[in-house]
Amino acid sequence: MAATTSIHGMWSSRLAFILAATGSAVGLGNIWRFPYTAGEYGGGAFVLVYLICVAAIGIPIMMAEIMLGRRGRQSPINTMLALARQEGRTEAWQLLGWLGIVCGFLILSFYSVIAGWTMAYVVRAAAGVFHGADAAVIAAAFDGFVADPERLLAWHTIFMVMVVLVVARGVASGLERAVRFLMPALFVLLVALVGYAMTTDHFAAGLSFLFRPDFSKLSGEGILSAMGQAFFSLSLGMGAIMIYGSYLNSQASIARNTVIIAGLDTLVALLAGLAIFPIVFAQGLAPEQGTGLVFKVLPIAFGQMPGGQLFGTVFFLLLVFAAWTSAISLLEPMVAWLVENLSLGRVRASVLAGMTVWLLGVACLLSLNVWSEITVFGLGFLALFDFLTANILLPLGGLLIAVFAGWVLSRAASVDEFAMGEGLGYRLWRLLIRFVAPIAVAIVFLHAIQVF
Ligand code: PHE
Repeated sequence: MAATTSIHGMWSSRLAFILAATGSAVGLGNIWRFPYTAGEYGGGAFVLVYLICVAAIGIPIMMAEIMLGRRGRQSPINTMLALARQEGRTEAWQLLGWLGIVCGFLILSFYSVIAGWTMAYVVRAAAGVFHGADAAVIAAAFDGFVADPERLLAWHTIFMVMVVLVVARGVASGLERAVRFLMPALFVLLVALVGYAMTTDHFAAGLSFLFRPDFSKLSGEGILSAMGQAFFSLSLGMGAIMIYGSYLNSQASIARNTVIIAGLDTLVALLAGLAIFPIVFAQGLAPEQGTGLVFKVLPIAFGQMPGGQLFGTVFFLLLVFAAWTSAISLLEPMVAWLVENLSLGRVRASVLAGMTVWLLGVACLLSLNVWSEITVFGLGFLALFDFLTANILLPLGGLLIAVFAGWVLSRAASVDEFAMGEGLGYRLWRLLIRFVAPIAVAIVFLHAIQVF
């Protein structure tokens, strides 16, 4: 019979789970990654494909991940092992958990470096560095910052320590309290930034960039990136949401919670886009500036608006927290596994996992400067890890989760775990998870490698 609690602890309420899962989903993916990827792939058509991916692939897979996690009540590796055994299937399904652990290491290593940028920008905003500075000065300052390995290393290290501290204490205690206040605050500030963007006279240009699809700009790689962005932003395909589901009590409605989490995540990404692109166009900048986009654009607004010093400081601070709550969920699956299988204490497990990620992160930050010559497939480590995880490994993990939840796990088990009956909602989920999601991911993969 399925366990009703996890040895690692439980969320104190349904709201706590929603906050934690939203904390995982909302992060740099929404505010840093979404705008620059949308900018690179031409805007509207990318955004449309992104939204379709969230609805048709993301939501059913998120439901599946929470459902599997809650049924297994362990780290993703052991959850998959236990569920595969229950169904009398091959134990190789645990490899899905391992794939997630590898993903977690790779994502967190570069995620922490970018989170370090946001921390540095809290200090810069507070010091009034952006005040009256024009776009060129701000861009040059960013480029100079990224070229300095020592500063990147310092911030990356501080951020990883912060992540390890929370994970070592146990996810439920620190996280719940923090997220309850921070998520609404971030939201309010983003809305205010969109309000500022409306005063730039280029709001309409921003709107049409984001929402008027120009399909001639959409390549196979653009579609792959939109799908990858959906997985990345919703924290899917690597076990983060699965492990958060394992701490959820048995009564909570998985379907309803998933729609709320995915809806909030999407809203934050769109708001970020609406805040950034009008400023981009007002300044005559190009939307395809790559990973520096947010750091080169938002400071211009903070430098010009009244109260921008305070506003910018609080904004970057909230971004640090958003990144923090996501990073925690990236580390948690491997820590849970270390605790379960090596019987390490939580503290040791967190430090061990954190140090490994830290080391990998050093390679990422060096790839921006000292090691910029070292490339694999034309990408430095940071860009490589980003591309490989979001566009390939997460969708692959999601595909396998869909196949497992839709084809391997018995129908009775998923009906029982969702506890929403076998009406329209369940049948729709089953259709999406068995056919739509796996086939869509497969087609996008094939399309991207130009088989068609
Ligand atoms: N969803 C997070 C973000 O948008 C990143 C993340 C990816 C977190 C995968 C956990 C797992 O920033």
